[in-house]
Amino acid sequence: MSETTLKATAAASGASATERFLTDKTVSSGPGTDTSRVNTLAAEVITAVHDVIRQHQVTYEEYNALKSWLISVGQDGEWPLFLDVWVEHVVEEVAGAARKGTKGTIEGPYYVPGAPALPSVATLPMRENEAGTPLLFQGQVTDVSGQPLAGALLEMWQADDDGLYAQFAPGITEWNLRGSVVADAEGRFAVTTVQPAPYQIPTDGSCGRLIAAAGWHAWRPAHLHLKVSAPDHEALTTQLYFKGGEHIEDDVASAVKPELVLDPRPNVEGVHAVTYDFVLDPVV
Ligand code: DHB
Ligand code: FE
Repeated sequence: MSETTLKATAAASGASATERFLTDKTVSSGPGTDTSRVNTLAAEVITAVHDVIRQHQVTYEEYNALKSWLISVGQDGEWPLFLDVWVEHVVEEVAGAARKGTKGTIEGPYYVPGAPALPSVATLPMRENEAGTPLLFQGQVTDVSGQPLAGALLEMWQADDDGLYAQFAPGITEWNLRGSVVADAEGRFAVTTVQPAPYQIPTDGSCGRLIAAAGWHAWRPAHLHLKVSAPDHEALTTQLYFKGGEHIEDDVASAVKPELVLDPRPNVEGVHAVTYDFVLDPVV
């Protein structure tokens, strides 16, 4: 891929992720806005920053570098990227602590509701000659007692073989590698897709500059994103990874869990296939 394409992609991803967030997520007016809660959380975050400044004798030069960096994160539209990479995994850890069924992990910035509806045996929308190893992803959705959840919904989205997401990188058809699969009466599904590539968070924006300045790397291991839901059950937001894949041990977003690692093998037809069953908790 040319450098120009990569640059266009990085710039576009941040801005689209910000727009998408502002369109889809409405700030709740629940306990999060309670004065004493805001007081506690805001005061403790500010105190933690003071502690770092004292402990490391932060200079005015460093303070001004931080100020200009924070301004540029907003200008680049990269707050969704920054928060989903370095913060969301702990929010999910807290939110999912009591879950008995399948483990959740971060949503990330690239979910889009309303992907095309697909039957239980389906192929994700893809371009003619979509690059990448074909993958058959199949399984069953049940409740915690093992009862099948008929008609469970599996919303899937993933990067393509270049590590790019439709609607966030230019030049990819709108719903490429995105679909809303409806499981059958036994909660079963069998989806044909392609193996995603590892994903590099945009390197030419503010998050990339932080990564370079700190000597980190910008990679997430290859993954499938899923939201699995059924009436009267807790919706599950998760990701599935691939055994032995690059960056499975050092995900920049710290979102890998051992229970979420797939190991596809060639089936009798020689197609890479893997079975993964989802267990949904009852609503609390
Ligand atoms: C980011 C991208 C992802 O695909 C993901 O799963 C998590 C985070 C990001 O760029 O912030
Ligand atoms: Fe992702």
